[in-house]
Amino acid sequence: MLRTFAGLDFGTTNSTLGLAGAGRGNNAGPRLLPVEGEAPTLPSALFFSLEDGKTYFGRAAVFEYVDGAEGRFMRALKSVLGSSLMEETTQVGRMRLTFVELIGRFLAHLREKLEAEARRAEAAGEASVALSDVVLGRPVRFVDEDDDADRAAQDQLEAAARSQGFSNIAFQFEPVAAALYYESRIAAEELALVVDIGGGTSDFSVVRLSPERAQAEDRLSDILSSTGVHVGGTDFDRLLSIAEVMPHFGLGSSTDDGKRRMPVWYFNDMATWHRINTLYTPKIRRDVYALQKEAAEPEKLARFGHLLEHRSGHRLAGAVEAAKIELSDADETLIRLEEPGLDLRAPATREAFEAATAELVARITGAIDAALSEAGVKAEAIETVILTGGGAQVPAVRAAAVSRFSHARIAQSDAFGSVGLGLAIDAARKFG
Ligand SMILES: Nc1ncnc2c1ncn2[C@@H]1O[C@H](COP(=O)(O)OP(=O)(O)OP(=O)(O)O)[C@@H](O)[C@H]1O
Ligand SMILES: [Mg+2]
Repeated sequence: MLRTFAGLDFGTTNSTLGLAGAGRGNNAGPRLLPVEGEAPTLPSALFFSLEDGKTYFGRAAVFEYVDGAEGRFMRALKSVLGSSLMEETTQVGRMRLTFVELIGRFLAHLREKLEAEARRAEAAGEASVALSDVVLGRPVRFVDEDDDADRAAQDQLEAAARSQGFSNIAFQFEPVAAALYYESRIAAEELALVVDIGGGTSDFSVVRLSPERAQAEDRLSDILSSTGVHVGGTDFDRLLSIAEVMPHFGLGSSTDDGKRRMPVWYFNDMATWHRINTLYTPKIRRDVYALQKEAAEPEKLARFGHLLEHRSGHRLAGAVEAAKIELSDADETLIRLEEPGLDLRAPATREAFEAATAELVARITGAIDAALSEAGVKAEAIETVILTGGGAQVPAVRAAAVSRFSHARIAQSDAFGSVGLGLAIDAARKFG
């Protein structure tokens, strides 16, 4: 029987849904399903509007929020998996939802796209689309150095997918998926290192790839190692914000009597995508107002108060992220947020960005070392470095990722699609 199977890459920043065919004579795919208009990626964002009571997803969610609609905006939900926030519920409009339910809502939206595709395929007399089976991607580590929390994170993601009608769920490491996709396009055997720098995590895998091996059912012996660290693009956003933006909001300034500094955690949370919402409480508003009264530079704390009052935190984080992306090409840029009551212009240079994020790059380099040593191979043995993920476009990250592999071929794989496509290939093999 000809059937098509789905792979779902629930990313920290972007999500995709891949499809691949299984069965004799069914060489369809892999391909990405359009998930927002014609776009093959859905930004992992939700907006619960208080104005019309609707839930928006992806670019539409970002648009509603940035446009200033009343409601609750969420991004980087994947970063919450395995953390203590998972135990909390959050108020969205008149509902209180757990994070598993929130992630479930997001997955439900993707599942609707899959169901629509299943109806289309059926009407067109094409291979039927499996709706109960799915391969979900997972980072090698959801949580660093805590195996129980890491297992809990996968269980929570599985529970969210199960609640949306997927009953047959398998997991695959995201870098292995990226390797499977790359493998579908090569002609000869290669020893490859996958470097996937995402929004939340960086994942690495040393894999033996070849067109013949691609036919084998069990690939465990070809996956020589998989390592990962909880470092991704959102951490680069956070450290850029802390270095160049948060000082404008009071970070590092002291009380009037010069005796104390402003507590750091407010600024840290405001710079961290998935923690911004936790600051929007009446108590924190009051506490920040009290701090403002005893601050040596009260105007800065007043700006912080503006962020709380107008729920501008994600707009600010978006401006920081946009500046980070600009610094991939430019030597300097301006981090800007202009809205009634706030006009922020913070200059940022590539040099300052690299100084602020050097520790992240070092952790990525360390994880690549671990991937090589766990695989028992020397850098010289790697024939291809497969680069993927949006974060790999940061020049310092790319340089660190390829520096020891000057002899190797550098393959720039589809930065946002390679994991979803590889998960679909894996799904067709596992379930087909
Ligand atoms: N040109 C660029 N320069 C620097 N960073 C970029 C660029 N384009 C995208 N990014 C960053 O890439 C990250 C998103 O990458 P990607 O879509 O691969 O992540 P993800 O798959 O959602 O996350 P994860 O795999 O960690 O769950 C974001 O932090 C984004 O800011
Ligand atoms: Mg990813």
